[in-house]
Amino acid sequence: MKLTVIGGGSTYTPELIDGFARLRDVLPIDELWLVDRDPERLALVAGMSQRMFAAAGHPGRIVPTTDLIAGVSDADTVLLQLRVGGQAARHGDETFPHECGCIGQETTGPGGFAKALRTVPVVLEVADAVRRHAKPDAWIIDFTNPVGIVTRALLNEGHRAVGLCNVAIGFQRRFAAMLGVDHRDVALDHVGLNHLSWERGVRVRSASGQLDRLPELIATRLDELADDVHLPASLIGMLGSVPSYYLRYFYAHDVVLGEQRVEPTRAQAVLEVERSLLELYADPTVTGKPAQLEQRGGAFYSEAAVELIASLLSDRGDAQVVNIANNGTLPFLPDDHVIEVPATVRSSGLVALPVAPLPDDIAGLIANVAGYERLALDAAIHGGRERVLRAMMAHPLVLQYDRAEKLTDLLLAGNREHLAWA
Ligand code: G6P
Ligand code: MN
Repeated sequence: MKLTVIGGGSTYTPELIDGFARLRDVLPIDELWLVDRDPERLALVAGMSQRMFAAAGHPGRIVPTTDLIAGVSDADTVLLQLRVGGQAARHGDETFPHECGCIGQETTGPGGFAKALRTVPVVLEVADAVRRHAKPDAWIIDFTNPVGIVTRALLNEGHRAVGLCNVAIGFQRRFAAMLGVDHRDVALDHVGLNHLSWERGVRVRSASGQLDRLPELIATRLDELADDVHLPASLIGMLGSVPSYYLRYFYAHDVVLGEQRVEPTRAQAVLEVERSLLELYADPTVTGKPAQLEQRGGAFYSEAAVELIASLLSDRGDAQVVNIANNGTLPFLPDDHVIEVPATVRSSGLVALPVAPLPDDIAGLIANVAGYERLALDAAIHGGRERVLRAMMAHPLVLQYDRAEKLTDLLLAGNREHLAWA
């Protein structure tokens, strides 16, 4: 099978390669094409990737290319992990909202909106090439943020797409370790939107049946749970569920803003990590995944991808947390909205498992952010200052008209080179 990674020159790629090598029985890859616009970086990452495959005895061929059409031609699956504007644009996303007293983040709030505006048109262009040149039943797996908005853009255009994030698999592995059980026996009641999700149950399979052990974790390991997501223990106790660390940008907004004002941005930190990673990738004696890669946020990203692709291609019908169309799962959202929930995964498609009714505070926040996401996609596709302003104001972290106007102008001024219509 031919698998293609768009944005394959990312320093994350060896994380993927490591998973492909370890799990090659689950997902046998004959050809792995890495597509990237930056030929120098791509050569370093491809060289490292080929050495990793060789060291693991993986027979797959790695093909780097800057040619999108060649990359996607006859592909069985296409993985999107591109980043329009690189870490420089990310640094902008992480700082311009500060001027209006708002947190700066690459997927949440005004920064995430800027990323959506830059990214959606590029992803749709790539998807169009996939439609024309890949195998007719090829799947697009989207890791590109903001995953909810990008996946909905793809689905609205009729692409065979599914969005994926590593937040859920991270929780699954963490809870399994805390409980001393095999992660394959742990199923999460994970609900929400991408980067706006809560764990409401941790169902553990054992010889005597299945038991939700989240109440036990909250009763006995509350401080660890709170430390993991950097939120107060009493908040988790009150909710009776574990919010992902992205909820910190809402529940602890002003604390995060205070931290961000005095710390380097994540983009600056990542640039440093990338510099040392690329040095290692250039070293022909390095043949294994470097430890420094753990300083990036992509833990278990490759395993989530392998499991998802394997189930899509071989019809395994297991349950995995994915980003798919709502279709009535959350009754307060439109059917075509993209939500992040467990779904059974078959080659015919993905079907969400039923979700128990949500408490009003969580449902309210999801609905609010979903409203923003819909307006944001409209702005990303059609452009125009007024559409941007409307979506900006709809975001619950913005809400005020004068603040939304200021943020809109800052966003447009900082992103003009990436927005065809601006
Ligand atoms: C997590 C998120 C990803 C995000 C990444 C950022 O893995 O789920 O969506 O891209 O963190 O990691 P970075 O190392 O770039 O800060
Ligand atoms: Mn993510």
